[in-house]
Amino acid sequence: MSFGSKIDAVKNLLEPFTNHKVVKLSSLRDYFSEPNEADRVLKERGDVVVYEYYERIFGEGGGHINFGLTVMYPGKIGREYFLTRGHFHEKDAAEIYVGLKGVGYILMQTRDGKVEARVIEPDTVVYVPPGYGHRTINTGTEPLVFFFAYPSDAGHDYEAVKEKGFAKLVVEENGKPKLIDNPKYLMSPMV
Ligand code: F6R
Ligand code: ZN
Repeated sequence: MSFGSKIDAVKNLLEPFTNHKVVKLSSLRDYFSEPNEADRVLKERGDVVVYEYYERIFGEGGGHINFGLTVMYPGKIGREYFLTRGHFHEKDAAEIYVGLKGVGYILMQTRDGKVEARVIEPDTVVYVPPGYGHRTINTGTEPLVFFFAYPSDAGHDYEAVKEKGFAKLVVEENGKPKLIDNPKYLMSPMV
């Protein structure tokens, strides 16, 4: 085990890493409010990369802190900015995000519908408290790059967000990002 990694701020990567995931538009189609728009972009531009992340995972057991670097590319599907899938931690585990490049939002939401949103940009530290599902949105025109760290036994639950979505959407209005209510959000608790 080496005792750290290096962030390459020019190439937007973290080395060494144990896991590198690339998330493309086709796998996010149904996360957007207008999946038909996603189909149109897929046809026009192909299966573009929406985001990728590099992780240093030290195990599933407790006691460690996993960390990594996420790189989100700029873009929109209809009026809605590019987003991450979003998830809850299975355990009541917090997470820290540190903005390095670009600008966006972190949407946070409890399973019973309490919502918070914070801007993430360089020199911003966002604390995601235990119990808050979280999703990141790139509202800028450059890659949004951030560092994250969470307890190694946190676990990731993607299903609740996949089924019910988030209560808010981040869309462009008059050239600026705006948070609006998600008309398709299912009000039932995310259990
Ligand atoms: C880890 C975490 C972030 C995200 C990453 C991609 O707990 O919150 O590292 O994993 O930004 O987002 P997802 O995992 O929602 O696809
Ligand atoms: Zn997380």
